[in-house]
Amino acid sequence: MTSIRRASLVDRDKIREVHLNAFAPEEASNIAELATNLLMEPSQPGTFSWVAEIDGSVVGHIAFSPVFSDAWITCIGYILAPLGVKPDFQNRHIGSDLITAGIQHLSQMGIHVLLVYGDPNFYGRFGFHPHSATHLLPPYPLKYPSGWLARNLHPHIEAQIPIQLSCLQPLCHPDFW
Ligand SMILES: CC(C)(COP(=O)(O)OP(=O)(O)OC[C@H]1O[C@@H](n2cnc3c(N)ncnc32)[C@H](O)[C@@H]1OP(=O)(O)O)[C@@H](O)C(=O)NCCC(=O)NCCS
Repeated sequence: MTSIRRASLVDRDKIREVHLNAFAPEEASNIAELATNLLMEPSQPGTFSWVAEIDGSVVGHIAFSPVFSDAWITCIGYILAPLGVKPDFQNRHIGSDLITAGIQHLSQMGIHVLLVYGDPNFYGRFGFHPHSATHLLPPYPLKYPSGWLARNLHPHIEAQIPIQLSCLQPLCHPDFW
């Protein structure tokens, strides 16, 4: 049976292992490093991570970190990255449960918008849409602009002018974008 719980620093090596297994070899070590760096990153507001466990083994992980407006130096919302599930445990709804856990928590915190840079076919299932991300400009030029998506968590007045976003240091790597 799968259980989802908040991750802590003691999960660091297990989280690293998840992403080393989940992602393709050419990107796996960068993503594993991102995941562990975000776990330790001090920020205000903070980062959040969840792990999925089966029989006491960590098989999946997800992280969320705040994004800021360059101009206003205020938190605009959060970004989901990374998400990984070990190959032997994929297609068992674990990735979906991790996303749902994060969305519920961020909604309860009153966060307005959650961004993601990923496959629209997958994230579209969870209400992420390119339209909601139109005015929120990513921190780096995107290799796949159609993967820039957002989901509004609370009704709010959307910005009419573009807002240039910045992200936490662990995500400041052009390869991620
Ligand atoms: C993407 C990932 C996290 C999904 O985790 P998972 O636990 O297998 O996902 P779930 O079981 O909750 O959902 C699986 C469903 O999503 C679909 N799905 C998975 N990846 C998809 C993708 N890239 N595009 C569209 N659909 C996708 C599956 O076909 C399945 O559909 P079904 O419910 O109709 O059977 C996992 O495949 C993974 O770790 N992949 C490698 C790392 C990665 O790409 N991470 C995401 C980066 S943006």
